[in-house]
Amino acid sequence: MSRSPLPYNPKILELFRNPKNLGKMEDATVTAVAGNPLCGDMIIFYLKINDEGVIEKASFESYGCAANIATSSIVTEMIKGMKLEDAWNISWKSVIEAVGGLPSVKFHCGILAVGALKRAIRVYYKNKGVSPNWLPKEPSFEEKQALKEEELAEMLSKRMKTEEEK
Ligand code: FES
Repeated sequence: MSRSPLPYNPKILELFRNPKNLGKMEDATVTAVAGNPLCGDMIIFYLKINDEGVIEKASFESYGCAANIATSSIVTEMIKGMKLEDAWNISWKSVIEAVGGLPSVKFHCGILAVGALKRAIRVYYKNKGVSPNWLPKEPSFEEKQALKEEELAEMLSKRMKTEEEK
């Protein structure tokens, strides 16, 4: 059976071919990972944050698909120069809108990118030992989804290992 290619829009394809802010950041203030290296869908976010809580620069490394690379790229562009509170309020829906839409089976790739961003913001405040009142105690939707994916990937890899050992 042949699989037809996913209907990515031209903006996604362009960002996939020429992603912005791709690569490790040596002087990052915080780093956060979302996804699971075992299944290959993994993203690392790097943020450089100044004393006023403004994101001076952002970069990412992605081992995910085209949709993940495109959404991560656009997130790093959207948050540059933003206050952490405003960056926190970016939703996965607005990111998908910003890349001109995604096939619904690929929504989770954009959710993972925003999950990584939100984790990075949490790490920043955790390291500082402060908790601003706008930062919810409960994990956001994107953080919960990232966790679900990680748990699922781990479960699958354990199952595969057991199968191999049989
Ligand atoms: S990151 Fe998993 S399919 Fe896109």
